[in-house]
Amino acid sequence: MSVFDTLVDRIRNEADGPDPQGAVRAVLAEALEQAEVLCDATPADGPDEINLFEDGAVSIWRSRFQPDVIMPAHEHKVPVLIACYSGAETSFVYDRAGDGLRQTGTVTARAGEIMDLPGDAIHMVTAEGDRPSQAVHVYFGPLTTLDRALFDPDTGAALPFTMENFEALKLPRA
Ligand SMILES: [Fe+2]
Repeated sequence: MSVFDTLVDRIRNEADGPDPQGAVRAVLAEALEQAEVLCDATPADGPDEINLFEDGAVSIWRSRFQPDVIMPAHEHKVPVLIACYSGAETSFVYDRAGDGLRQTGTVTARAGEIMDLPGDAIHMVTAEGDRPSQAVHVYFGPLTTLDRALFDPDTGAALPFTMENFEALKLPRA
């Protein structure tokens, strides 16, 4: 059983308890104490985003971001915990403002750190520095079944979350 299988089992157990976010955060913090084990179990190639598990309560992913690409602004509609175990994952966070978006801040999880975003957060994501980031993302709901929006970076207009729109809205990072 891989370290990620064990982690998924532990997260699933906690997701049904009275304080899923607090309990899952503790599980992730413990896993990050041995971040090198997670690094060793992560293939260097292959897809950047791997869904490890999803049910009605949680959606668990292994997510790699590249330093030369900024992922388009999007919403999740459920809270998320981001446990970074290699590199650093940066989010540019936005609010809805009128018909568009307004940037409200930047948050970064560096290796060994956990950050959380509330269910109404909108963000763009990239890897800080010059190498990819690696993290475990735990969304507290059935992420892939939710009706979510992407946002046009120029107008802030909401667009359907399709893979076609997602690819078209990726931005290069200078
Ligand atoms: Fe996201």
